[in-house]
Amino acid sequence: MLEERRSFLASLLGWAAAFSGMALIHPLLKFTGFTVKPKPRHVTIAAPLPRSGMHAEREFFLFASPDRQTAWAVSRTCTHLGCRVNFLEDKQIIECPCHQSRFSPQGLRLAGPAKKNLSAFPVELQKNETGAVTGYVVTI
Ligand code: FES
Repeated sequence: MLEERRSFLASLLGWAAAFSGMALIHPLLKFTGFTVKPKPRHVTIAAPLPRSGMHAEREFFLFASPDRQTAWAVSRTCTHLGCRVNFLEDKQIIECPCHQSRFSPQGLRLAGPAKKNLSAFPVELQKNETGAVTGYVVTI
């Protein structure tokens, strides 16, 4: 009987030590899973943009002001759970088809379960010698 108790306590102690060890090793394993961010990619969109002033790519929307001298790009990845958002031209909003989060064309959160604004990407304007915009370079 006493031997059984000792055996039981020894196995219990072994399991406790195993769980404690896993709890200590877990942060190390997470650290080794660290991934390097991919290099930035430059996507060039030739001017002129359509009349709407919006151009859709798989990863982002490019918007330009009416005079086309200012442009900005916002991510198409919803900040809620990562669905790809759509631009509703008639309402001038960006909407997520999954849970209907809504964003302004500038990527500001308007409504929905998403808590953050859409990410913005830097845009560089390409101009010719006369100053006319010939293209937009978006860095994603
Ligand atoms: S994933 Fe976009 S609102 Fe939920």
